[in-house]
Amino acid sequence: MPLPKAELHLHVEGTLEPDLAFELAARNGVALPYADTEDLRTAYRFEDLQSFLNLYYELMAVLRTERDFEDLANAYLARAAAQGVRHAEIFFDPQAHLARGVAMGTVVEGLWRALGRSEENHGVSTQLILCFLRDESAESALATLRAAEPYLDRISGVGLDSAEVGHPPAKFREVYEAAAALGLRRVAHAGEEGPPEYITEALDVLGVERIDHGLRCMEDPALVERLVRERIPLTLCPLSNVRLRTVDTLADHPLPAMLDAGLLCTVNSDDPAYFGGYAGDNFDAVRGTLGLTGERLRELARNSFVASFLEHDEERRRRYLAEVEAYEFPKD
Ligand code: ADE
Ligand code: ZN
Repeated sequence: MPLPKAELHLHVEGTLEPDLAFELAARNGVALPYADTEDLRTAYRFEDLQSFLNLYYELMAVLRTERDFEDLANAYLARAAAQGVRHAEIFFDPQAHLARGVAMGTVVEGLWRALGRSEENHGVSTQLILCFLRDESAESALATLRAAEPYLDRISGVGLDSAEVGHPPAKFREVYEAAAALGLRRVAHAGEEGPPEYITEALDVLGVERIDHGLRCMEDPALVERLVRERIPLTLCPLSNVRLRTVDTLADHPLPAMLDAGLLCTVNSDDPAYFGGYAGDNFDAVRGTLGLTGERLRELARNSFVASFLEHDEERRRRYLAEVEAYEFPKD
């Protein structure tokens, strides 16, 4: 039995495995510029975030109908459940679909067909977080939030993703204010490729409650001290950092130093179909390569539920935390 955990940094479009991409392409009559799954996998050699994003957006062409989004989410939830995920707060990128003529309702209702039944089908509770693409305009982000208003009963929060450098958080002040006024939770990617200042700006200008990645905080001791003092969770994604060359090798990942510094770190998969692993694979990788003890892994699992947006259901959070404390690591 795997360690129970929450996944807080997961782009649903990044769970599109090559097999499913080809299946959906055939179903929808979409031509992919790859001969087969093997050929497609040769394109999974990334230089940086942008080279990944190019493929990530290209493959989204196969997602067209509610059923496609339902199948995508169900495939993720089944894999996540098998790796101990008990609760998932799932990002989606509506602007990437609206731009292709796929309506907000198709995306949200399609995902909801899977998420609404996830507890009974997979034993995973879920929330949905709408992300704005930071390399699109602030006006486009605002229009996207307006388009999502009919579906807010299905959406818990907003996030900010896509190409980071050159697109500082402050660009999105207005849409985050509007999201807060609608009662939405707020997170943002910051300090993945961008500088530590973007982390500070996300906190101070956007009012975010969690930082996605936040890796580069380690360059600024005063910022680390603040993140520790304010108990700001960081949703780290170790295998993603290796594949996108944010760190040289997994052995160089600052996770142990971040935990030693007292940061509230969580471990997540980001885009598991592209980066070589789901949540449990990320836990296994950091245990194996970084030599984290069982108690360190338990701390990461505990942090994931502490950092999750379960304030409306503290009883559930207590139950999950009790599962973490009761977990017995296999003797190896
Ligand atoms: N969109 C999907 N994955 C992302 C990542 N790791 N960083 C920024 N935007 C993303
Ligand atoms: Zn991400």
